[in-house]
Amino acid sequence: MSAASEASTAGALCVRDLVVSYGANRAVDGISVEVAAGELRAVIGPNGAGKSTLFAAIAGEVAPASGSVVLDGVDVTRWAPHRRVRYGVARAFQVSRIFPTLTVRENVLAAWLCREGKAQLWWRAVDGATHARAGVALDDVGLGALAERRGDSLSQGDRKRLEIAMALQLDARLLLLDEPTAGMSPKETSATVALVESLWRRRGLTILLTEHDMSVVFRLAQRLTVMHRGRVLCTGAPAEIRNRADVREIYLGHG
Ligand SMILES: Nc1ncnc2c1ncn2[C@@H]1O[C@H](COP(=O)(O)OP(=O)(O)OP(=O)(O)O)[C@@H](O)[C@H]1O
Ligand SMILES: [Mg+2]
Repeated sequence: MSAASEASTAGALCVRDLVVSYGANRAVDGISVEVAAGELRAVIGPNGAGKSTLFAAIAGEVAPASGSVVLDGVDVTRWAPHRRVRYGVARAFQVSRIFPTLTVRENVLAAWLCREGKAQLWWRAVDGATHARAGVALDDVGLGALAERRGDSLSQGDRKRLEIAMALQLDARLLLLDEPTAGMSPKETSATVALVESLWRRRGLTILLTEHDMSVVFRLAQRLTVMHRGRVLCTGAPAEIRNRADVREIYLGHG
């Protein structure tokens, strides 16, 4: 049994019959996915399969037409995004969203201020314990030495680390990572994979990630869910998915 599955008690996700439409386009077309607490699950599929839309629905950024999202037994389908953040749903985006003119440390503090609804009080609202937690989160992702650098001076890889530190600061139980290695050099990709793996093992988080780089997927994920045209094609262990003819076909564009 892995360290993660022993450590975790939270983060079990159950998505049931979810439908999300953009006009006539059913980007998510009746998806059901179950992810166990402490699992690291990859969602893969060709461009436009609906992966980011599924993540947006789990985070509450788009409203589903029907279906449900249940986290640790609580139905959060109609909850606003900020309420989900407080409940432990953290998200890093396909394109990193950080505050470019703030320092690395301030970015992590800003994530906390926003969650607490204290953004208008700005730094005055940050107490010693919060500063300490921010320091721990930055050390955890290897950014401790860059804490006073401006956000926009960071490399692509370090931006993603910062985004992950911002999520960790929020006591995530479920971490949604949408293409965490997109646009990275091979060296940055490998460092990011190692970071995600070590955070998952040490913190016992449930992680759901999308990724186009199959070497990343097969190295990280315990199980994979394959999406195609808004639906789930199959779910299984990496070795099982790798050999399926229907999965190969959709990637070759014949699906
Ligand atoms: N904000 C939006 N408004 C309208 N249509 C959208 C929007 N976002 C996504 N779509 C459409 O929904 C479908 C699913 O898109 P989505 O971004 O979820 O796919 P994806 O699997 O994340 O793709 P990629 O691998 O390219 O990131 C596509 O047909 C896309 O054009
Ligand atoms: Mg996407």
